[in-house]
Amino acid sequence: MSQRQRTQVGIIGAGPAGLLLARLLEVHGIESVVLEARTRDYVEARIRAGVLEQGTVALLEEAGVAERLRREGLVHDGAEIATGGRRVRIDFRALTGKTVTVYGQTEITKDLIAARLAAGGPIVWEAKDVALHDIETARPRLTYDHAGATHELVCDFIAGCDGFHGVSRSALPASSRQAFERVYPFGWLGILADVAPCSSELIYAHHDRGFALASMRSPTRSRYYIQCDLDEKLEDWPDERIWQELKVRLDCEPPPNITTGPTIEKSIAPLRSFVSTPMQHGRLFLAGDAAHIVPPTGAKGLNLAASDVHYLSRALIAYYKKQDDSLCRAYGDTALARVWKAERFSWWMTTLLHKLHKKTSFEAQMQRAELDYLASSRAAQTALAENYVGLPF
Ligand code: APR
Ligand code: PHB
Repeated sequence: MSQRQRTQVGIIGAGPAGLLLARLLEVHGIESVVLEARTRDYVEARIRAGVLEQGTVALLEEAGVAERLRREGLVHDGAEIATGGRRVRIDFRALTGKTVTVYGQTEITKDLIAARLAAGGPIVWEAKDVALHDIETARPRLTYDHAGATHELVCDFIAGCDGFHGVSRSALPASSRQAFERVYPFGWLGILADVAPCSSELIYAHHDRGFALASMRSPTRSRYYIQCDLDEKLEDWPDERIWQELKVRLDCEPPPNITTGPTIEKSIAPLRSFVSTPMQHGRLFLAGDAAHIVPPTGAKGLNLAASDVHYLSRALIAYYKKQDDSLCRAYGDTALARVWKAERFSWWMTTLLHKLHKKTSFEAQMQRAELDYLASSRAAQTALAENYVGLPF
């Protein structure tokens, strides 16, 4: 049995990129259907980073999903770099006039789904075998299986928001596609624990034993990360060892007040920088992790998905409301200009803070010189701050 449906924008993926795009279009009276391979429960349980640029918060406001974020989000005026046993505070507000907001991506996803469903907007959960067709024509189509039937969705445009492992990227012709990649030789062990954060702001620690990050989700929930080798297993890291290692790597003046407790989530993730160009072909646009990945140092992943969606929503609004397709034609290049800057910043921050080389190597001396420079130069701190709070759209 095959069922045919029509919409303006077919969106593949109900991650932050797809859901935010669907909401922004909805607010401007543009129809879309979201096709998601997983269940709602699965999507709402995924744990990811949690630092929002002001521009991302503004987009969530525009999408009408910022009410809980305003109430529960923690506004941070700065962050700290711990190096050589001291803390260097980067004062975002003083250096850039901007702040960041700490609010889990998991919560954003839940807020976006709730708003989409409350507005009656369709999300097809467990859409299997999504395939793209006719993207070089004015009537691109999506086919998928759902609840035992094959469906066809005829669209004006397709937004590929299906993450790094999705199907959209490979629908662009291989002859025009180019991938740029750096895989880092270490991972991040991440934990969540229902204990008070060790400091009022995030601490990024550079230590001889490796990088560590003290982050948070709320005044009673902490998120910590430890640089680890890629071949390490979660079984190698019982809670006691994690807390012990965090205390060593985060040891600095003034000492952070680490409260230990049982971990409620534990995972190891590899770090990768990746960009696939171009970000559009015919009537297909890629947004978010479908087109690019950043290592988590600097928390740019979600913010970059949001800036893509900013450009894409503006382009589609201009197309439907003003019959102007110039922003649609420029989308990929416009988005990529900002993507590359965030890639550069995430790579730089990763390289600056992780244990990458033997202590006696030239590279290790360069790393130390750069950290010293950062600690003493307002210009260097401003460069970090302006990237961290987010470059303008
Ligand atoms: N068909 C339908 N849905 C799919 C398919 C497919 N073939 N493949 C993947 N998906 C879904 C995934 O299940 C997921 O829900 O697409 C969604 C992609 O979401 P994300 O991976 O969260 O990507 P994105 O929305 O671009 O968000 C970027 O999230 O992954 C983090 O670090 C990343 O913070 C960044 C942000
Ligand atoms: C997080 O809280 O999960 C987080 C914060 C900052 C980062 C990465 C992750 O740079």
